[in-house]
Amino acid sequence: MSHEKLSKTFDSWVDAGRDSGMETEHSGVVAAVLAQLDVRPGEQILDLGCGNGWATRLLAKAAPGASAIGVDVSPKMIARAEELHSLTIRARYEVATFENLGLRSGRFDRVFSMEALYYAVDLERALSEAQRVLKPGGRADVIVDFFSESPTTRNWPEKTGLSMHYLSTAQWRAAFERAGFIDVTAERVLDPRGVAAASPEHASNKADGSLWIRAHKPA
Ligand SMILES: C[S@@+](CC[C@H](N)C(=O)[O-])C[C@H]1O[C@@H](n2cnc3c(N)ncnc32)[C@H](O)[C@@H]1O
Repeated sequence: MSHEKLSKTFDSWVDAGRDSGMETEHSGVVAAVLAQLDVRPGEQILDLGCGNGWATRLLAKAAPGASAIGVDVSPKMIARAEELHSLTIRARYEVATFENLGLRSGRFDRVFSMEALYYAVDLERALSEAQRVLKPGGRADVIVDFFSESPTTRNWPEKTGLSMHYLSTAQWRAAFERAGFIDVTAERVLDPRGVAAASPEHASNKADGSLWIRAHKPA
């Protein structure tokens, strides 16, 4: 799959208002994860595949002096993020790909990503880039709903026309370890709002929960 195809597809999601739909769909799990992240004052956070930037803004507000950068391949997602931005929040947004972030090495305390990394054109390179931009000892928190222990998601590539990495929990962990991460763990997170809060399209996979992969860059 090409970055051009990804950007065209996700630009069209913005035209259809699906960026705010994703916020509604994902906000329960992100709130549950954020409550456990323990973001520290002044931390610098990178949000990979930020969409309209709703989670980037939450991350930047999670501790005094924290700041966040959201990156996304879709120029329309980034334009939408800029429209929704408030000048009181220490966040900004850039068009970039997972595979070529164009950001300085060792710059971030944390990398976060919600429902995005399985679209990577080159997952190995994307994880190496995430590792590269982290400070020594920095941590990654990546959440995906598309994983092989959630079998009702299997048809998502057909539905979206996009190729996606359909990995098991063990394969996600191994991919992080191959990229040089350590202390890699994975757990399921259920939406605290329950399955009833999900759209009909997502009700079946909501019951399987999201997969939260946590990892560290060696200190
Ligand atoms: C399902 S959306 C999730 C957006 C946001 N994290 C949220 O929860 O609302 C996935 C996002 O990842 C972006 N994306 C997909 N592949 C990408 C890549 N290779 N590089 C950068 N962004 C990518 C898409 O443009 C899209 O905005």
